[in-house]
Amino acid sequence: MAKRIEDFTISENRRLNDDIFVLAIFGNNYLPDLRPGQFVQVKVNDSPGTFLRRPFSIHDVDYEHNAIKLLIQIAGKGTERLSKLREGEHLNLVYPLGNSFTLPADNDRILLAGGGCGVAPLLFLGKYLKSKGFRPEILLGFRNSERIIELDEYHSIGQVHLITEDGSKGEKGFVTDHPVLRNGHFEHIYCCGPQPMMKAVARYCLSNNTACEVSLENLMACGFGVCLCCVTDTVRGNLCTCIDGPVFNIKELKW
Ligand SMILES: Cc1cc2nc3c(=O)[nH]c(=O)nc-3n(C[C@H](O)[C@H](O)[C@H](O)COP(=O)(O)OP(=O)(O)OC[C@H]3O[C@@H](n4cnc5c(N)ncnc54)[C@H](O)[C@@H]3O)c2cc1C
Ligand code: FES
Repeated sequence: MAKRIEDFTISENRRLNDDIFVLAIFGNNYLPDLRPGQFVQVKVNDSPGTFLRRPFSIHDVDYEHNAIKLLIQIAGKGTERLSKLREGEHLNLVYPLGNSFTLPADNDRILLAGGGCGVAPLLFLGKYLKSKGFRPEILLGFRNSERIIELDEYHSIGQVHLITEDGSKGEKGFVTDHPVLRNGHFEHIYCCGPQPMMKAVARYCLSNNTACEVSLENLMACGFGVCLCCVTDTVRGNLCTCIDGPVFNIKELKW
């Protein structure tokens, strides 16, 4: 798919909690066909030391208004600067980058499992699957009830199962502790979030012969297969997370 370098305009910068915000942006051109799991590389202006573009998953897409949403957690200088962007300011994107999640088989029971800000690609994926006639269930894990984000959005996609580490909302524990994962008899699980959580879900899926795809967030520089700083060890050798991923079938990963 051809890559584009384009300016987008901020239509909204909405804080969800102390360190997570949603950037809603729109472009002047029609969006290409975007796939869930793909990401964009964002140029961060006015942030000395943030020379390289920063990668973010496509969180939501509105083709009618040429609009995209990014769900961003403040991690350092670049994301701190992005958190200060205001309506009307511009953002330069290289996109669409990376591969995408695959579609499940027709009658598969599907679970989208995500934790914290790692849920970013799951909203677009959930809406996409629903538009294709699938009925995914969603399992979301957060540290506590105050960290829960965008629940209404996920309720509009399918049945939502919630778990918090302190038990302040939903079940208590980690995503892999939720009974729906163990008793749900899913055939296809899509997972995004902190790596320990994805590895735990992957272990469960491997031992239960459940298909599972994860989205990796390796450190990246170029974003298009040149610098090799994003490689990940797979059964096919070292692969670039930016072009061969970020979505991998767990059977490929040497975890
Ligand atoms: C394909 C892909 C999709 C991503 N999607 C999202 C998303 O949707 N929302 C979101 O909030 N973040 C996402 N990330 C992570 C995001 O790119 C980093 O948090 C961001 O680049 C940090 O930039 P910074 O300048 O604020 O931090 P820096 O000053 O560069 O670093 C601050 C800290 O964050 C760590 N860090 C930097 N990059 C990453 C990374 N890729 N993964 C984990 N830790 C990192 C650094 O090691 C350091 O400890 C994604 C990363 C990849 C590779
Ligand atoms: S980020 Fe440069 S090769 Fe992947």
